[in-house]
Amino acid sequence: MSSIKLVLATRNPGKIVEFRRILEELHPGAIDLVGLEHFPELHDVEETGATFFENALLKARAVCLETGLPSIADDSGLCIDALEGAPGVLSARWSGVHGNDAANIEKVLGQLAAVQDRGAHFTCVTAFVMPDGRESTAEGILAGEVLRKPIGTHGFGYDPIFRPTGSELSLAELDAQKKDLISHRGQSLRAIAPRVAVMLGALG
Ligand code: IMP
Repeated sequence: MSSIKLVLATRNPGKIVEFRRILEELHPGAIDLVGLEHFPELHDVEETGATFFENALLKARAVCLETGLPSIADDSGLCIDALEGAPGVLSARWSGVHGNDAANIEKVLGQLAAVQDRGAHFTCVTAFVMPDGRESTAEGILAGEVLRKPIGTHGFGYDPIFRPTGSELSLAELDAQKKDLISHRGQSLRAIAPRVAVMLGALG
């Protein structure tokens, strides 16, 4: 059986490795996942949606339309109870500079300095879009709390200041495989992967 091409709407090599690992575990050899590095002519899609669902669908639809291939995209972020769900869809650019993890962490810790309720969760929505218009989405959530200072060196983003419920370690103290097992991204991807395989006809 030859593998079926699926485009992941990201230029982040770490995300491609993570998605490929989970798809491969579920359906070995069935899906050939490629990132946007194979399509240098494509423009980045602006994340203008108000929700993770809107942004994930925006990205997957745009890439499917431009490549003519089945496409998958995710959108994720940290939602803090005491900040009414912020930074949410603005997580990557909370400090004003896109992708500045240290500045984003500093801003959040400053906002929570006098706050006792540290409850928060990560959310990830994965969206899958077929050229014939069929679509599917899946959400994953990881609950926990925001620490008072960064701990650990693994991972990215807000990992050093997030401790999952029931864990004694911050996310940045877990290695990649352990994080995959519980993470919002791992959960949403494992939820959508069987549907992706069925829609691609990759099971038979
Ligand atoms: P995006 O889904 O690539 O747009 O990522 C949104 C932002 O949310 C990232 O830049 C991080 O700041 C934050 N984020 C999403 N998932 C995680 C995670 O697993 N750990 C830490 N931060 C995350």
